[in-house]
Amino acid sequence: MTVNYELLGKQLDSLMASEPDLLANSANFVGLLFAEIPNINWLGLYIVRESDLVLGPYNGRPACVRIPMGQGVCGSSASDARTLRVADVDQFSGHISCDPASKSEIVVPLIIDEVVIAVLDVDSPVYDRFSRQDQDGIEKLCRVFVARLRALGARHKNFI
Ligand code: SME
Repeated sequence: MTVNYELLGKQLDSLMASEPDLLANSANFVGLLFAEIPNINWLGLYIVRESDLVLGPYNGRPACVRIPMGQGVCGSSASDARTLRVADVDQFSGHISCDPASKSEIVVPLIIDEVVIAVLDVDSPVYDRFSRQDQDGIEKLCRVFVARLRALGARHKNFI
């Protein structure tokens, strides 16, 4: 069950092409990815606000609202400015469990002007759900999203 990330990137780009509203585009970004990536139970954005990550647009069950920078998989990805791919969340020291059904996850930082503005968190009920190929594909989708945000004038201080 592989995802055609190339095609998904084109769909995302055209979905965002005609709409200037950052929040609407962010909502559709998570909606499209949640609909098209199989075997996941949660996908959404955490937005950097001062020293916390705050819950943004997502699809899935209600989740933790505020994550301190540096904590959990999301906070670690944001503070290190790098993707974290976790095959078994119970083996990640400090993992924050919002839903006990989640077994693996991937978190990708979104960077504008060399500043992490948000992270995309994707959770799966399946252990080791995300391959290196998924990581490459999801990072590519995040680059498409960030390029559109930049074209709309988003800067690290005014992202939704
Ligand atoms: N598991 C994440 C918290 C966010 S929820 O899974 C939606 C973490 O450890 O940062």
